[in-house]
Amino acid sequence: MKERLLELKQEALEKIKQSTSMKELQDVRVAYLGKKGPITEVLRGMGELSAEERPIIGQYVNEVRNEIADNVEKKQTELKELAIQKQLEEETIDVTLPGRPVRIGNHHPLTAVIEEIEDLFIRMGYQVAEGPEVETDYYNFEALNLPKNHPARDMQDSFYITEEILLRTQTSPMQARTMEKHHGVGPVKIICPGKVYRRDNDDATHSHQFTQIEGLVVDENIRMSDLKGTLTLFAKKLFGEEREIRLRPSFFPFTEPSVEMDISCFKCGGNGCNVCKRTGWIEILGAGMVHPNVLEMSGFNPKKYTGFAFGMGPERIAMLKYGIEDIRHFYQNDVRFLKQFQQA
Ligand code: PHE
Repeated sequence: MKERLLELKQEALEKIKQSTSMKELQDVRVAYLGKKGPITEVLRGMGELSAEERPIIGQYVNEVRNEIADNVEKKQTELKELAIQKQLEEETIDVTLPGRPVRIGNHHPLTAVIEEIEDLFIRMGYQVAEGPEVETDYYNFEALNLPKNHPARDMQDSFYITEEILLRTQTSPMQARTMEKHHGVGPVKIICPGKVYRRDNDDATHSHQFTQIEGLVVDENIRMSDLKGTLTLFAKKLFGEEREIRLRPSFFPFTEPSVEMDISCFKCGGNGCNVCKRTGWIEILGAGMVHPNVLEMSGFNPKKYTGFAFGMGPERIAMLKYGIEDIRHFYQNDVRFLKQFQQA
């Protein structure tokens, strides 16, 4: 019986030694020390032993059991330490590894130009307003002094959805919408960036969808010289302090008088080059004094209030500023193009 116990003990110790996980170790413990284990089995046979042998074997069984239990415990500690060791090794951070470069995004060049212009006008006390791209014929044309069948409607080939609803051809409808909101009380001082749509065939300088920024100021005693001062500041801030502006008479149904603004060429300084087509001047935007009919239709008394408005195309400004030769680049979303406009 003693031999059998010794054999079992050695077997158990060997299995403990070979255990590589807590689960295996637990299994060994249960197998040898549990109620259904071989040692319990041996104890059952104790009845056959003589009275002298019984306490000796009894004690021996206890010793074997204790030894197995001790070994299990030791192995348990060992396995735990190993696990910690392994975890430490796995989680080691090598701070000497070189950093991985992070690719950083940037604003679309159009967004960058629009935000630059917004910031400039915000600093002059303007508010930024946005309006619907799907617009009514009334706001897009009629409220801007362009009654039905007005020949100037042909200047802007429109995408009509129904007879009364179209994709706005300009941001100018926001003039009427904003004035209506003010219920005939000034001052009004806003800029409105947004998308506009025209039935044009896409080429290097035309796009069926592009953006505009509208500006509108209405108050008592707003004069043409206020418009001129505002546009001069705008030109200098956007294209350099040396820029000069020139206003040429033009026509828009919603402004009277109407002008087109040119800036002195920022590339040649006015001597004539390929950017300004040898004229020394670059056309930038349309503007004028708000037509009294427009004021009146949107609820402002033209005897008390006057105003100016301007409208520009951010694509054109971005193309000039960055030397972009094709308007389609803005809408093709080729990252090789877009990532050239990394902001600081
Ligand atoms: N809406 C005009 C256009 O699209 C531009 C403009 C705006 C002109 C405001 C005068 C005043 O051509």
